[in-house]
Amino acid sequence: MITLSDMALDVLTTADGREKTARSHAHAAAWRAARAAGAPLDIGAAVPPLRPARPARPALLDPRDVPKRKPGSPQGRIALLHAVAHIELNAVDLHWDIIARFSDVPFPLGYYDDWVRAADEESKHFNLMCDCLEELGSHYGALPAHAGMWRAAEDTAGDLMGRLAVVPMVLEARGLDVTPAMIQLFRSAKVPSAVAALETIYAEEVGHVAYGSKWFNFLCGRKDLDPKETFHRLVRTYFHSTLKPPFNEEKRAEAGLPPDFYWPLATG
Ligand SMILES: [Fe+2]
Ligand SMILES: [Fe+2]
Repeated sequence: MITLSDMALDVLTTADGREKTARSHAHAAAWRAARAAGAPLDIGAAVPPLRPARPARPALLDPRDVPKRKPGSPQGRIALLHAVAHIELNAVDLHWDIIARFSDVPFPLGYYDDWVRAADEESKHFNLMCDCLEELGSHYGALPAHAGMWRAAEDTAGDLMGRLAVVPMVLEARGLDVTPAMIQLFRSAKVPSAVAALETIYAEEVGHVAYGSKWFNFLCGRKDLDPKETFHRLVRTYFHSTLKPPFNEEKRAEAGLPPDFYWPLATG
């Protein structure tokens, strides 16, 4: 019988983006069906690769070498969607990686429900971005992409609380800060498909930040740690930058991130 960890490994070792996300959707559906039938799949155990399989293109460049394009031009809009597609593909791997890499830590089944759902949604987000790129005459892989995206995963490969602090509660929360301006940009440029796709992403990302916050607090409770102090310590250990305001305080609050978690880590 296939375990949830086997499914995660299958996604992580599939290189092509459309294929990776198709498998991710199929595995998420299988997990949900087993849960609905009252016969949840075993979590199992797996050793995920330190870096997931990725397609030959896009070329991955140091962020300093990724060409900057004006956001107001058609080429700039394609570059922006391409960057978001790349983030979404990383996010698919990140959510399956957290399932497989820390499968030795016992959790209620709701923990796996949350990350499977997040991975399923990221897979949709990637495909939405690919569809928008193709509509604009481009495709994922046509431009170079950011090489540093998986760094947070490698840095926190041995520390689940560090992973929760940095990935959903810092990086995905950052998405909540920047997405409204992106939606506005595509609205002004009259690209309704991109507006609709980014609105879906924006709505669903609140949930991913909330899952991070929920399970971070859960682990603090289990270990009798102060959540705010622990969050600050872990972000300072594993995140190699400061947090940049302005923050989307409303959506962060909705996701269970209070201001005293992120303001002390900010520079502006
Ligand atoms: Fe996403
Ligand atoms: Fe996400």
